[in-house]
Amino acid sequence: MERISTVSAMQARAKALRLNGRRIGLIPTMGYLHEGHLSLIDEAKKYSDITVLSIFVNPAQFAPNEDYNNYPGDIERDISLAEKRGVDIVFYPSVEEMYPDKQLTWINVETITEVLCGANREGHFRGVSTVVTKLFNIVKPHVAVFGQKDAQQAAVIQKMVDDLNMDVMIHIASIVREPDGLAMSSRNIRLTPEDRKNAVILSQVLFRAKEGILKGESIHSVLAAAIKDIQAVAHAELEYIEARSYPDLEPMTDFNNDLLIALATHFGNVRLIDNILIEKSS
Ligand code: PAF
Repeated sequence: MERISTVSAMQARAKALRLNGRRIGLIPTMGYLHEGHLSLIDEAKKYSDITVLSIFVNPAQFAPNEDYNNYPGDIERDISLAEKRGVDIVFYPSVEEMYPDKQLTWINVETITEVLCGANREGHFRGVSTVVTKLFNIVKPHVAVFGQKDAQQAAVIQKMVDDLNMDVMIHIASIVREPDGLAMSSRNIRLTPEDRKNAVILSQVLFRAKEGILKGESIHSVLAAAIKDIQAVAHAELEYIEARSYPDLEPMTDFNNDLLIALATHFGNVRLIDNILIEKSS
């Protein structure tokens, strides 16, 4: 497995791969890899013959009060996991390499970034869209794989690619869950043992909501039940739980189309997100 840490070396390698007719698959991550990320590698391999895993904790997508400085990281562990999973190239640039000068150019997807996580994380999606664009320009992928756990991020990136005619196929891979149902996240490691046990409530309310919706209960009543259940759990501070159309993220009051139920909840200073997609035909 190759290790590349400079933008110029990665661009030169990507250019050579393309000239040799190789199909590049990018898996963008912020590291501290877990099975969810590793499953993205498996997905990327289906659509490409060279996989590039990027590891970069992007300061531009964290607000000053967020957990940039506490974001977990262990580059040697990540590199070894990536190698075992069959990644061809790990690209792990420094902040200085990615942002050598004050960044004056930003990518801003409108409207769908202003709701859900965007309502409380100002500038977050601007930071995500910008770094993903930079990664696309550096790694030159034919296909890029993102996780459905960040459903809003997936919708934002797909919209950016469509609106700006970026020549990259976006593939969205299913959420990978712990045996008790908690969605895998690099942040789970920062939960106290008690909060880790209690965090199972997040997937439980989503599974119950889906069951309720499919049985004909109203969106209003399943959301009300979910709010009550989360509020009953020690240390769980619900930021939002909402029902939206997908990928347009319009509010939905009736189940007349595919529906996303998404939530964010804090356990102490650990913010967790999760979601479930309910297809109208299911
Ligand atoms: O989902 C993430 O880990 C990040 O938002 C991403 C896409 C790697 C951009 O920094």
